[in-house]
Amino acid sequence: MKTRSAELSGFLKSLYGAIAARAQVDSDELRVTEKLMQALRLEQPSVSPNPVWLPVCALLDEAVECVTQAKVEQIPGQSVTVDSSVVDHAQALRNLAPQLRWWHRPDAAQHGKPFADGHANTTVIGKGGLEEHDDVWVGISLLAPGIQYPEHHHPPEEVYLVLSRGHWQQGGGDWYEPGIGGLVHNPPDILHAMRSGSTPLLATWCLWKAH
Ligand SMILES: [Fe+2]
Repeated sequence: MKTRSAELSGFLKSLYGAIAARAQVDSDELRVTEKLMQALRLEQPSVSPNPVWLPVCALLDEAVECVTQAKVEQIPGQSVTVDSSVVDHAQALRNLAPQLRWWHRPDAAQHGKPFADGHANTTVIGKGGLEEHDDVWVGISLLAPGIQYPEHHHPPEEVYLVLSRGHWQQGGGDWYEPGIGGLVHNPPDILHAMRSGSTPLLATWCLWKAH
């Protein structure tokens, strides 16, 4: 049994740090994240999936650079402060990225070639990831500029830590921009979608299934 790598530990620690730094007390975002981190305290055997790097992953450097720049350059109209915890998580994500198996949505082709080529997901915790748990999944989504990720839903509750510009939608409502460092909470089974603007969209997502 291998223990969690330094890169994975750094990714999870910085994820909690970035969410806890900005989630409101008593918020759904904090409740889900704390349940999830509690489950992850019980380490499961590490898995070594064969890493897969997709062409679109070349945009990760640009996406992480945008987070670093946002720390010093205020984004016009953005209410969320980009503090060092978000930068730390983006950098931890970049350090972990080469160990991961990046994949396209299985139905990607039916959403057209620009979407198929212009997106990548990876599972960090969960089947196909670096560690498997029954009730927790953690992953990353990346979109090239000008790409919309199709509306989807799933039974587990979800928290996204948003790491880029880009718009989000819930339950067929209005599109809005959480901003770099923004948090999005999706109740179980709500329809949700996201789309990038002129820069890549990057987000870490956390799913937690209540018992
Ligand atoms: Fe989702």
